[in-house]
Amino acid sequence: MKKATIIGAGAMGHGIGELLALAGIDVILVDIDEEVLKKAVDNIQWSLGKFVEKKRIPEEDAKNAMARITTNVNLEEAVADADLVVEAVSEKLDLKKSIFKKMDAAAPGHAILASNTSSLSITEMANQTGRPEKVVGLHFFNPPVLMALVEVVKGDGTSEETVDAMLELVKKLGKTPVVVRKDVRGFIVNRVLGAVMNEAFSVVERGEATMEEVDAAVKYKVGFPLGAFELADMIGLDVMYEVGKIMEDAYGDVAKASPMLEKLVEEGNLGQKTGKGFYDWKVGRPRIPFRLARKFDVQRLIAVATNETARLIYDEVAEPEDIDIAMKLGTGWPQGPCEQADKLGLDSLLSKLKELHEKYGEEVYKPCPLLEDYVGKGWTGKSAGRGFYSYG
Ligand SMILES: NC(=O)c1ccc[n+]([C@@H]2O[C@H](COP(=O)([O-])OP(=O)(O)OC[C@H]3O[C@@H](n4cnc5c(N)ncnc54)[C@H](O)[C@@H]3O)[C@@H](O)[C@H]2O)c1
Repeated sequence: MKKATIIGAGAMGHGIGELLALAGIDVILVDIDEEVLKKAVDNIQWSLGKFVEKKRIPEEDAKNAMARITTNVNLEEAVADADLVVEAVSEKLDLKKSIFKKMDAAAPGHAILASNTSSLSITEMANQTGRPEKVVGLHFFNPPVLMALVEVVKGDGTSEETVDAMLELVKKLGKTPVVVRKDVRGFIVNRVLGAVMNEAFSVVERGEATMEEVDAAVKYKVGFPLGAFELADMIGLDVMYEVGKIMEDAYGDVAKASPMLEKLVEEGNLGQKTGKGFYDWKVGRPRIPFRLARKFDVQRLIAVATNETARLIYDEVAEPEDIDIAMKLGTGWPQGPCEQADKLGLDSLLSKLKELHEKYGEEVYKPCPLLEDYVGKGWTGKSAGRGFYSYG
């Protein structure tokens, strides 16, 4: 793989271009106008400068990477000679579909066409092309140059050869790939994280805890790097809400988008970027007192995460190892959900789900058959010698 073209040079596209150039690949960045492209190149120059300043790369490497990057506003011209095209335009299915049609018509037959979508269907994009076997999801995390994880997503028609080529590429970029074997909405990280965030929102919506109590518990008891509400504010509540809607469309009641989020978005309170979301960022970073940590039963968030993880395994979307790697590298969780559930005991987490299901009657708490099956077999976790993992 020698030449790559990135379509959409925004927050993600310019970072992906920088990574590829650092790995010795010639990169063409494409966007709708010269102004955006100029900004993208400036951003890459700044980022490479930071790496040199921090002595993470020699100046020579930064210069060479910069020299491998060119720009073009003409998509057809820019993909004509590409081995790989990565689409990173805005998260709109119709836009992405039309881009895939154009990419397919203008790129060489051997080129792999990848999408960096966070939530949309790879298969629907692939169906716009005459080469579905060469269409794949390549889901980088923000910012791509710093985040270690890439989800490699198989569409219905993606060939193993294409997946293997992407695994090799991701490793060459110095990142860790995980394979998402089925084209499910939210892939791995956004599926499990989304379930945890939704549970945090509904606990507060029902008045069962305050957001500070929830955030204190997840930070200080479970060791998440950020509280759920703090993280939502940092991601942007508009982005959270849009992804939430896509998940709700795909999974119905199991992933209902939060009304509390909708209200804040309608009011224009989008989180850190507007100065106010769940927290008031105008007074600085939220201060979440340690003493609140004991007030919220955080096991219910872990039970929901375990249930969503079990569904991914049950539906053959991913293996426990890949889910654990994805959650640790994609979100900074100190342990993966399978490791954690095995330590806490699948039996107690299953009981918690049953208790919540009985109390609220909501589909989200209905235990995945895989969990019932494991517990029925006595596979209750580490102390039993078998849970999600087998222990020597
Ligand atoms: N921002 C994140 O945290 C994040 C993380 C992972 C994945 N993603 C995904 O990456 C993709 C891009 O997100 P982003 O945050 O970089 O968005 P962004 O808005 O920063 O960038 C999108 C770019 O696409 C360009 N664009 C729009 N239409 C175009 C067209 N017809 N031709 C060429 N360029 C066009 C826009 O001008 C813009 O520069 C989305 O699918 C998003 O879901 C985002």
